[in-house]
Amino acid sequence: MTLIAPSLLAADFAKIGEESRRAFDCGADWLHLDIMDGHFVDNISFGPAICAAVRKAVGPDKYLDAHLMIERPDHYFDRFVKAGVNLISIHVELADEYYLHDTLRRIRDAGVQNGLVINPATPFEKVLPFLGEIDLLLVMSVVPGFGGQSFMPEVLEKVSKAAEWRANHNASYLIQVDGGIGESNASLCTKAGADVLVAGSSTFNAPDMAQAIAAMKN
Ligand code: DX5
Ligand code: ZN
Repeated sequence: MTLIAPSLLAADFAKIGEESRRAFDCGADWLHLDIMDGHFVDNISFGPAICAAVRKAVGPDKYLDAHLMIERPDHYFDRFVKAGVNLISIHVELADEYYLHDTLRRIRDAGVQNGLVINPATPFEKVLPFLGEIDLLLVMSVVPGFGGQSFMPEVLEKVSKAAEWRANHNASYLIQVDGGIGESNASLCTKAGADVLVAGSSTFNAPDMAQAIAAMKN
């Protein structure tokens, strides 16, 4: 089954609680929280206080997935754990292998799931050392920083490689794709092996959000 994770980045920020509930009421499986610090990417979004407000608005049982596009996740992830998110993803482009192994382990030790994110320009080989120790691999299908960009189909090769590696090594991470996803390309992602699709503009800005989510699941 394909899971749909609307990205709150495309919501009306004047009504964050209402918008978060709307996503789940319309059939969202997860809610994707894009955290940007203005350094790792050229945009600033929101931080732990807003994540805590979202948690309060949706109640304890909804799955919140935090995609950290920040330079020091080792220093900040704990605040997102306290805010009540269920999964924290960090970028493979950030730092050396030691830092990544250590931060991924510390995220799990803090009691939430961990994820590793790979940008369109980064070769698949970069994530190989970590595939045995993650709950989710996020394959970016746009250059991170902004919502509303066009889907880059060339990243599907990495999705296939991730699915192949998982099958060959009896691993269990989920494969998530993020950026420019909507009804027209959702099935390309799932056919390549994706389990979770992030969709911002095509869900929150749709005339009928429930229909948009349902269309991507089928
Ligand atoms: C990009 C973010 C994405 C983005 C998705 O930096 O990671 O999650 O908000 O938005 P759409 O679906 O509009 O491309
Ligand atoms: Zn994202």
